[in-house]
Amino acid sequence: MSNARRQTDMRSALFLLALCLFSPPTEAQNEEWWPTATLYQVYPRSLKDTNGDGVGDIKGITESIPHLVEAGIDCVWLSPIYKSPMKDFGYDISDFMSIDPIFGTWEDFLELARVVKEAGLRLVMDIVPNHTSDEHEWFIKSINREDPYTDYYIWKDSLGIDENGTQIPPNNWISAFAGSSWEWNEQRQQFYLHQFTVAQPDLDYRNPLVIEEMKNVLRFWLENGMDGFRVDAPGHIVEHIDFLDEPPTNDPNCPPMQFCQLQHIYTMNQPETLDILWEFRQVVEEYELTSGEKKVIMSEPTNNIVDTMTFYGTPERPLMDFPFNVNFVFDINNQTNASTLKGAIDKWIDNMPAHATANWVMGNHDQPRNRARQGEEFAMALSMVNLLLPGISITYYGEEINMDNTFVSWEQTQDPQGCNAGPEYYQRFSRDPERTPFQWNDQPFAGFTTGNTTWLPVNENYLTLNLEAQRAAERSPFKIFQKLTAARKTDSVKSGAFDHQVLSEHIFAFVREEPPSLSYLVLVNTGYSEAQANARASFAQLPDAGIVYTNTPSSNFQIGDVVGLDAIVLPARGGLVISYLPLV
Ligand code: GLC
Repeated sequence: MSNARRQTDMRSALFLLALCLFSPPTEAQNEEWWPTATLYQVYPRSLKDTNGDGVGDIKGITESIPHLVEAGIDCVWLSPIYKSPMKDFGYDISDFMSIDPIFGTWEDFLELARVVKEAGLRLVMDIVPNHTSDEHEWFIKSINREDPYTDYYIWKDSLGIDENGTQIPPNNWISAFAGSSWEWNEQRQQFYLHQFTVAQPDLDYRNPLVIEEMKNVLRFWLENGMDGFRVDAPGHIVEHIDFLDEPPTNDPNCPPMQFCQLQHIYTMNQPETLDILWEFRQVVEEYELTSGEKKVIMSEPTNNIVDTMTFYGTPERPLMDFPFNVNFVFDINNQTNASTLKGAIDKWIDNMPAHATANWVMGNHDQPRNRARQGEEFAMALSMVNLLLPGISITYYGEEINMDNTFVSWEQTQDPQGCNAGPEYYQRFSRDPERTPFQWNDQPFAGFTTGNTTWLPVNENYLTLNLEAQRAAERSPFKIFQKLTAARKTDSVKSGAFDHQVLSEHIFAFVREEPPSLSYLVLVNTGYSEAQANARASFAQLPDAGIVYTNTPSSNFQIGDVVGLDAIVLPARGGLVISYLPLV
């Protein structure tokens, strides 16, 4: 390069630097941060307990931030920490704008928000619009027919009195937690609707005042610095106006009075739901315009892919930035082969609107843990897929160390969904096994609490399965997780091309590449015996050889080994990530 040219370059670089330093925030600074984020769901009762009462708290979450930074997380989603009688462990909210004392104080919350920000992470709150607690002031006033609260909830008259002298509910609707969705209120002499526990009365979203109340809740948390929301149970927000009986599913495997007895055609996915989500979205957009900060709104999915996709909205009327993709949770099992695994991925990508970003979930507080569903080795192989596919990746607390479900006896059962199912069926319905304390170390109670009890039992495997041991080990689930989150920060995974192929009955593979950068080949063996793959036969751009980047424990390779890409050996149910330089 000539001297004159170098000087011109230098001058323009200085000019650009000056522009950056002295201009107001540009479009680029306000860019969406979430499309490549690594999200982490905290179930606050179970991460870390600092006051010895056996229940996790906000100070415990604050103390855990260094761990999340080390794990390579970008954004923390908190399951509810609002004031709650805890009938559904925080999803029954009695005040949307205050913190429950079991979790700590408002100051503790501000400190958490400060520490999160200082660590360069984002903080997202769970928002529960469908219902409140029956101890919420609105509900108490609604029972008393105190305006404007009289019609805040779904109240209906009884259909009469049956031969046992009990009031007959308005229709046959069944709650997601079993039993009738209707509860008689003696004082108001009417039934109220509850799609979850009796302690969670459904708000009436046909009442504009209710919409406004919930928008104020969103505004409150935005003003308090939140980076976005996870919207709970959106499919349930609106019910059909005629309140007709729902048809039976005739499912022979469904126990009596369980949710699976009915086709939820009047209680779920009503078209008006999207108008409510649009109202929420507008609050967030208004805030983005005035603050110049980009926020995220994500939501739980609903019970089918078509309705779930409507939550994305359209380019003209975007709703959620993304509804959670739970296909890995529901569509992958011990029968899965390479093509059904590819099918589970395509089911999301092919159904997603063109303007949308994909996301990948391995588990949450409502479903058995990834490891319990997939087995130890395959759970890790699937995490490789989850974390290296294009889009957002969501990790449920404990997945980074491959925590397992914990046995919880009937006597120890806490979850209302488990309790309502009774001793015969509770194991099928209870969500307690995936909510047990995080396993920090091999000290009593896995280092979760400073006290001598925990709200759910600690898994007995904590002596060997814990974060401290995994940080010290040369190879461990946590080390794999760190490698994967580090790869997520490269251009190849952030924005690189994606090509996925079935290599054989049991070997599924994909590449993430951005030539000339270092790129990644991910291979998974869904089968129960060792298998060999020729990746070059399916991906023409692959060089002869690559380098082992990370691998599941049964793989014989060492990190850094050079591997010929036409004969790659994978252990049973194992996974392997190979880095390579693409041929251009
Ligand atoms: C959502 C939550 C679940 C809760 C229910 C009622 O499905 O994920 O935990 O029990 O809503 O709020």
